[in-house]
Amino acid sequence: MTYFVGQACIMCKHTDCVDVCPVDCFYVGENMLVINPDECIDCGVCEPECPVDAIFSDADSVKDKDYWLEMNQKLSEEWPNLTKQIEAMPEADKYNPDNYKKDKTDLLSENPGKGDE
Ligand code: SF4
Ligand code: F3S
Repeated sequence: MTYFVGQACIMCKHTDCVDVCPVDCFYVGENMLVINPDECIDCGVCEPECPVDAIFSDADSVKDKDYWLEMNQKLSEEWPNLTKQIEAMPEADKYNPDNYKKDKTDLLSENPGKGDE
């Protein structure tokens, strides 16, 4: 079991999630975060913190779940760790799923973001 981040995080990066994770298992890319499934202890506290509902349990029924589980595994091994909340992305409102109704998967950047200082 693990939790994972899905496409709703892309271009938003609110990062409320990192502040509550007891094992600091969030990793940051240029325009999204992912969870390392080997480190996640499945506590579930991050899931309600995300303002755009981007976090799911692998027990949930989610579109493209296998793809996102794979991407969380892969990218968390490549991206730096983030453990403290940072400012959301400048266009987070525009890309909030309430306003931007399309699937954002094609906007995903696999480039690393800036981790903890
Ligand atoms: Fe961290 Fe718990 Fe969320 Fe896993 S479920 S990423 S351990 S807060
Ligand atoms: Fe992304 Fe939500 Fe965390 S937008 S950075 S999963 S709080």
